[in-house]
Amino acid sequence: MTGLSSALQFLPAMVGKLGLTPAKGVCSRHGEFESAVLPGRVPVCMQCVAEQERVALVASRRQGLLLGCGVPGRYREAKFRDLEPVCEEQRQVIDAFKGWVARAGRDRDVGNVVLLGGTGTGKTHMACAAALNLIGRCGLGVCYTTTARIKEEVCSAWGMAGRDESSELRRFASYPLLIIDEVDVFDQGPALRMLNSVIDRRSADGLPTIYISNQDRDRLIELVGIRAVSRMLESALILQCGWGDYRLRSLKGA
Ligand SMILES: Nc1ncnc2c1ncn2[C@@H]1O[C@H](COP(=O)(O)OP(=O)(O)OP(=O)(O)O)[C@@H](O)[C@H]1O
Ligand SMILES: [Mg+2]
Ligand SMILES: [Zn+2]
Repeated sequence: MTGLSSALQFLPAMVGKLGLTPAKGVCSRHGEFESAVLPGRVPVCMQCVAEQERVALVASRRQGLLLGCGVPGRYREAKFRDLEPVCEEQRQVIDAFKGWVARAGRDRDVGNVVLLGGTGTGKTHMACAAALNLIGRCGLGVCYTTTARIKEEVCSAWGMAGRDESSELRRFASYPLLIIDEVDVFDQGPALRMLNSVIDRRSADGLPTIYISNQDRDRLIELVGIRAVSRMLESALILQCGWGDYRLRSLKGA
């Protein structure tokens, strides 16, 4: 029940005390209605007011999701349409990814995306565009992270009141959509165990994940292990970004 609607249930008792009088009106969307107004005021359609409240609530929830989604600053406005056409292969990758995003908005069982390719090919840009689109359009709970950041955040919970390793891992495992960029970039230590735990749980729960790496499949297996890669690739849309580094275009005079 919204704040307004819960207040409204007490309205009849308050009407007299406040000097409100019942008045009839006609709403272009909801037809005839009756509401209580101060003398001389125009009656307001409460269905319209409740709808506006709902819209404002959805907008503020989406704003909260955008603020907390972890998309890095330089990609906060990323869109697929910002990407300059580079080659036919890139066009096909963008089309396939956009198709996946459209399905992900409707279907929780959409499967993973695995984005592989060289530096500067727009992988992070595309993944962030997908995240922002799904938050803005569908209010999906999306989190962008990296393997190194998972480790940092989980380790930062060690010894802290109210936080612990398993609740942090559960958090990463339960986002409706998780993006793990630089999936193979981590130091020696607990990062690989933590990454495996998140991948395992998300795979078991059938939650979609976007994995991003500069490595090819075989090198990825060497770096993160066959168990993790098998789960990453299971019913995944695999997108190979085989074109040149956009960051180096100016250097080449392109
Ligand atoms: N086709 C393109 N048109 C316009 N800008 C692009 C294009 N491709 C990439 N960019 C821009 O180039 C920069 C590098 O792209 P991005 O960070 O997405 O690359 P990446 O594939 O994630 O690289 P890395 O593997 O090094 O992380 C970003 O600022 C991105 O917006
Ligand atoms: Mg990147
Ligand atoms: Zn109305």
